[in-house]
Amino acid sequence: MAVTKGNLYGNTARFYDLEERKDCGELSFYLERASKLSGDILEIACGTGRITLPLAQAGFSVWGIDLSEYMLHLLKEKLHTLSNEIQKNVHLQQASMTNFVMNKSYNLILIPGISYQALLKKEDQIECLKTVYHHLKADGEFIFNVFRPFKQLDETWIQPEKIQWEKIDPQTGSTIQKSHIAKAIDVEHQIIYPEYIFRITHENGTKEELREQLSLKYYYYEQITDMIQAAGFTIAEQYGNYDGSSIEDGAEMIFVCKK
Ligand SMILES: C[S@@+](CC[C@H](N)C(=O)[O-])C[C@H]1O[C@@H](n2cnc3c(N)ncnc32)[C@H](O)[C@@H]1O
Repeated sequence: MAVTKGNLYGNTARFYDLEERKDCGELSFYLERASKLSGDILEIACGTGRITLPLAQAGFSVWGIDLSEYMLHLLKEKLHTLSNEIQKNVHLQQASMTNFVMNKSYNLILIPGISYQALLKKEDQIECLKTVYHHLKADGEFIFNVFRPFKQLDETWIQPEKIQWEKIDPQTGSTIQKSHIAKAIDVEHQIIYPEYIFRITHENGTKEELREQLSLKYYYYEQITDMIQAAGFTIAEQYGNYDGSSIEDGAEMIFVCKK
């Protein structure tokens, strides 16, 4: 399996939680789905626990897997600050979403945060869906999202560096400036290469620059729905955003899949 270090946030995991994500109802969407189904949850590519921890805090038992030791380390650090009761709700494992093996099946399986798009090779994408299918209970739900290309993407996607935000890191007191470059696109294989640049000014005035090159497979609607169905799933619901808007309207494609 081809995994780029960038997609595992090897250089910049510690800045992941500094990102301010506007509340688009994502968390309440997952909490609501979890309440409806009850039972155990598997969250694939759980990262630093952005979704995992609120689910555990709401009382759900969550098994989180991620391939990145850097992201899992941060999640474990946060988990250790929480109560024993919440800690007991979380079970973490370093594993790839293509070929993980858990000794149980789940009522709800999630791949949030467009993490499925980190899989660049067709065989890995298919393997992942098949592995999820295998771990899903007969009446369970599998929910994942990908971003919706706003048009047929081409080289015009490429854009120069743009500063996204600047803030003080509350943990270190350093000033962090984040930029984004839409660096390259492979139109034939439908892969975009965004790059993040973090420029850090430490409290003592020294400067540091860290870069993360991501590679994300993008899908058009028919391509992703064909793959979901080829893996044996039925698409029970689909949305363009977490407020339940139509799949044609949103910035994302969110699929609720069943066996
Ligand atoms: C954009 S982050 C999303 C993290 C979290 N789900 C969230 O929404 O905040 C993508 C995550 O996918 C993980 N990842 C990338 N490739 C993976 C793979 N092959 N198997 C498991 N996790 C992977 C990365 O380590 C990272 O934590």
